Amino acid sequence: MTTQPEQPLVDVQSLSVHFGSVAEPVRAVDGVDFQIFSGEIVALVGESGSGKSISALALAKLVPEPAGRIVGGSVRFQSLEKQKGAGSACFQGLEVLKLKSSELRKLRGARIAYIFQEPATSLNPVFTIGWQIGEAIRLHRKGVHVKQEVEKLLTSVGLPDPARAAQAYPHELSGGMQQRAMIAMALACNPDLLVADEPTTALDVTVQKQILDLLVELRKTRGLSILLITHNLGIVANVADRVYVMNNGKIVESGDTRTVLLTPQHDYTKKLLKAVPRLHKTA
Ligand SMILES: Nc1ncnc2c1ncn2[C@@H]1O[C@H](COP(=O)(O)OP(=O)(O)OP(=O)(O)O)[C@@H](O)[C@H]1O
Ligand SMILES: [Mg+2]
Repeated sequence: MTTQPEQPLVDVQSLSVHFGSVAEPVRAVDGVDFQIFSGEIVALVGESGSGKSISALALAKLVPEPAGRIVGGSVRFQSLEKQKGAGSACFQGLEVLKLKSSELRKLRGARIAYIFQEPATSLNPVFTIGWQIGEAIRLHRKGVHVKQEVEKLLTSVGLPDPARAAQAYPHELSGGMQQRAMIAMALACNPDLLVADEPTTALDVTVQKQILDLLVELRKTRGLSILLITHNLGIVANVADRVYVMNNGKIVESGDTRTVLLTPQHDYTKKLLKAVPRLHKTA
């Protein structure tokens, strides 16, 4: 468990995102509040279509436009006062939804990074892993020795032969190795927040566990905050400090993981829990 400092790293208030027509909008995210504190793993759970991914994308104003519109709310990003490489901007207490596109580009990657279910959608098949991770470093962290940093990152995500992995093309790596490379790419700019949207769904169970263990380890070693989106309450039980449950675009329940999973208050959370064959008991 983490102790929470007073100021959250990210503070989301009354966030609303609509799709469809203005007259009859689909309220994909409907007045959502949530916070992520430094060094915390926060899970966002809920059934398909409940608004998890759109909420997460809105954190960096990445809602797909023009289909989607952020129609209200606030996303404040607090600075950790951490020393960043030269060239990166300081984003103390930023209102993300009001940033200009040049400021948003600096925020994305440098402060908040995303990994998704399918590494194949984020890794470019025609460039080596090393080149792609290096590109992120070149863009956001001027003055860093790129090759050394690439190998350091690949080591930190548990790839046993980082020099070889750096020279590999994505198709030459297994699914688990690709996901590790994706995580290395996400970490390349030294973000404060990693958003992991169903990061292990495409992987088999043992590799799933390794990737989740890696995320927990990165939280510890780098003080990374992680927003973990998942359908899987077993994963939540094992990994998350706190959990928010979403249904129909709204947060219907939140709290520390143990409390929410052991004594759910909301009918929807109870229903989600009933759908899980068996949860691991925590000692
Ligand atoms: N590109 C889009 N065009 C129109 N509507 C969309 C689009 N993307 C999302 N939506 C709407 O937003 C809602 C929430 O979508 P979101 O992707 O956040 O769901 P989710 O909780 O991440 O689901 P899943 O678990 O399946 O990934 C959807 O039910 C849909 O109505
Ligand atoms: Mg989703």
